[in-house]
Amino acid sequence: MITINENYLKLQDSYLFSTIAKKVAKFQEEHPDKQIIKLGIGDVTLPIPETCGDAIKKATDEMLQKETFRGYGPEQGYDFLREKIAKYDYETLGINIDKNEIFVSDGAKCDTGNIGEIFGNDNIIAITDPVYPVYLDTNVMAGRTGEYNKQNNQYENVVYLATNSENNFIPELPKKRVDMIYLCFPNNPTGTVLTKSELAKWVKYAKENKAIILFDGAYEAFITEEGIPHSIYEIEGAKEVAIEFRSFSKTAGFTGVRCAYTVVPKELKAYTSGGKEVSLNSLWNRRQCTKFNGVPYITQRAAEAIYSEKGQKQIKDNIRYYQENAKIIREGLEKEGYTVFGGKNAPYIWLKVPKKYTSWEFFDYLLETVNIVGTPGTGFGPSGEGYFRLTAFGSRENTIEAMERIRNMKK
Ligand code: MLT
Repeated sequence: MITINENYLKLQDSYLFSTIAKKVAKFQEEHPDKQIIKLGIGDVTLPIPETCGDAIKKATDEMLQKETFRGYGPEQGYDFLREKIAKYDYETLGINIDKNEIFVSDGAKCDTGNIGEIFGNDNIIAITDPVYPVYLDTNVMAGRTGEYNKQNNQYENVVYLATNSENNFIPELPKKRVDMIYLCFPNNPTGTVLTKSELAKWVKYAKENKAIILFDGAYEAFITEEGIPHSIYEIEGAKEVAIEFRSFSKTAGFTGVRCAYTVVPKELKAYTSGGKEVSLNSLWNRRQCTKFNGVPYITQRAAEAIYSEKGQKQIKDNIRYYQENAKIIREGLEKEGYTVFGGKNAPYIWLKVPKKYTSWEFFDYLLETVNIVGTPGTGFGPSGEGYFRLTAFGSRENTIEAMERIRNMKK
């Protein structure tokens, strides 16, 4: 008899963004005349930079010629891209990352989800709450959590680090010892950030407790304020305790192109149950070589083009466009009396929902009355209750129109 991985049965409903997509599709079907504005999932709306498009065309031409065609590439990514990443994303911050510490992939979602495979299932995980659901769900699938407790909406065996307005969205160090700590800053979903000194506390904790930090830096390009770390490796000693995930999705409009990378420093070690040190770089390399055949050559050429002078200008223009959207949303909501967080160093705006609604009720209310889609805070975890997320990745027209609709909406 074929059996299943029963950990999947512990998962709650469907994946958050699929649930939302289904609800929206149903509403649209019932109200075909309504112009829905989607500010829910953080998907970009501007096209990829022209220079990336040119690189794609050129690489496609190469693939069409016998002399320049390429088959399987290196599983870790082509050197031409890894070298650029090391030089432009890290050297510029004064951080020395060797190209062999960089693993190019098809997305930070996959990498943050897959990375758990190289860690023991008895590790205790800590997640901020609210959190990007992939970190938690993939640990549920792996069996690293207990059952879901409907009383507190938490999985057993998981340390939830509440981040909310009461603690200024700064997670406290866990009271109980943990092994795998997921941090995402600038944060998805709250749009808030940690200063260098706050982040340094986590690096210190990880060192003292032989723990590892899984640092998702997918939104670093949206940082506008000084003193906010763009990489965890800006903190001294972080290379000994942290894996960093980066993505071209939000930075260069690659949500549909698919390219990201993960940095696994050579210094990074974890232990066998007998206490023997093992290099995580080697383990991840082994995992990738076995299960992944690399990102398409064409895609990697597109990613490389981002680092050209023209590419840098074009992505900065796009990022500025979304930052301006974030400002429009933030200021528009504040004017209407909402309490708003994030949106200054991140493309996400996290607002407090009016007291009479739960966050899912507010989702329904916005969808039904003004036809705007956002994401209910509770979809990201129990501490998200009472909050709601809007993204700045919509078009300018839709962003302005959404604020106009909210202004005229009965609260
Ligand atoms: C989000 O809306 O949280 C993101 O778009 C999800 C993702 O990047 O996978």
